Amino acid sequence: MLERMNHTMHEESKQGEAYAPFVNDPTAYNKKFYIESYGCAMNFADSEIVASILNENGFGATRNFEEADLVLINTCSIREKAEQTVRKRLTELRKVKKYNSGALIGVLGCMAERLKAQFLEEEKLVDMVVGPDAYRSLPALISEAETGQKAVNVLLSRDETYADISPIRLDSNGVSGFVSIMRGCNNMCSFCVVPFTRGRERSRDPHSIVKECADLFNNGYREVTLLGQNVDSYYWVPEHNSPSTGGGRGEAAVTFANLLEMVALVNPLLRVRFSTSHPKDITDDVLFTMAKHENICKYIHLPVQSGSTRVLQLMNRTYTREWYMAKVDRIMEIMPDCGLSSDIITGFCTETEEDHQDTMSIMEHSKYDMSYMFFYSERPGTLAARRYKDDIPEDVKKRRLDEVVKLQNALSHKSNLKDLGKTFKVLIEGNSKRSDKDWMGRTSQNKVIVFPKEQYELNKGHYVMVKVTDCTVATLIGKIEP
Ligand code: 5AD
Ligand code: SF4
Repeated sequence: MLERMNHTMHEESKQGEAYAPFVNDPTAYNKKFYIESYGCAMNFADSEIVASILNENGFGATRNFEEADLVLINTCSIREKAEQTVRKRLTELRKVKKYNSGALIGVLGCMAERLKAQFLEEEKLVDMVVGPDAYRSLPALISEAETGQKAVNVLLSRDETYADISPIRLDSNGVSGFVSIMRGCNNMCSFCVVPFTRGRERSRDPHSIVKECADLFNNGYREVTLLGQNVDSYYWVPEHNSPSTGGGRGEAAVTFANLLEMVALVNPLLRVRFSTSHPKDITDDVLFTMAKHENICKYIHLPVQSGSTRVLQLMNRTYTREWYMAKVDRIMEIMPDCGLSSDIITGFCTETEEDHQDTMSIMEHSKYDMSYMFFYSERPGTLAARRYKDDIPEDVKKRRLDEVVKLQNALSHKSNLKDLGKTFKVLIEGNSKRSDKDWMGRTSQNKVIVFPKEQYELNKGHYVMVKVTDCTVATLIGKIEP
């Protein structure tokens, strides 16, 4: 499996890695729900909103689907494989009906949106189908499904942001939290199903965002990741928003750069990250705001997708190879220590060996610390599916992906080697996976670093200076600076 060579907060980073929520006080609720999430960080954040709605309506969480009254699966449609994984898992989860014949199964998220009633009618796999903008209607849909009717709501909204709902943090490390700042996407990259499954772009009220971040900080969190399909096009205009939050009282519009600063000012001990940026929208204003605040992490996920101007045009990415390279240079000029990562698709329609080489050379130019790499998977209904033939044979797509992955491994290793001997401020996230004698944390540049606990009085959520003594392709190894 070549996809996703690393694990961070981004589209499909946790794909296939299901999780169940923490168990809250079981006596406080009369019913139990179980939820599993697939796909991007937005989906994981949405599940926390769903958990909050369900808690309000008498459902407590369980980690064990077999004892649940309600089993939910929050799904991803970005590639065919993501959908296959969910289908397989659904047949497993259906076993809940053996233990509890009254249990209900619901599909949430992008697959629900894409396949709509097909799930209920043809496949008879589930009792409820709920799209990403319809989670407020879950209690009503549950009541409907309880009477034996099939319940569907896949309406997309122009203004739903769930701004007023406080997410219930699920399976969190208690240090880093996701905060959704906008929903949907207006970009229409030709390969992408997201604009169809998540609808039009809309920005969430900045006051509710800042409040959520402050609440997280007060609960011990030390890092927030502001989430959106395209965070740089965040734009909130007071007049168009609710008067109860100050809209229409002469407040200025809020750009992403403004929002970043507002969140950075919550507390200097709160790290701020964001994902995902579109190269066409990330402004100098954002870069200067990042440079100005020490607690805004020096790391940008800047998906390139392809290094060929011709392919980029077919992808409807709206930038050229040269324009992208100039953007990378600008980032490095303003923040020479900035970490950079990318998303790359190999074998998009008509891609030649020369186009592929252009992708390889733009990777070298950008010196990505990490990339998420995929071979092209045609998605029904997208612009590319309608306009172009999926004409690159699978073995060619995979061979090119293999080459891209090998190059990225070399670039990641090179980037880590450059950090040898340097000292970084690290936020401790918890024990290292391998040993509870070691801490695991991240540098501002989003690199994972592992180091011995030693005798210091440290805990997760603390900052510590760590000197890099060794590295692998994916991880830095260090020692606490006395
Ligand atoms: N095929 C392969 N990869 C895709 N992505 C989005 N749509 C497709 C597709 N149809 C990748 C892009 C995007 C990331 C989240 O997933 O690289 O940035
Ligand atoms: Fe898809 Fe492009 Fe929007 Fe990202 S920016 S979600 S790739 S349409």
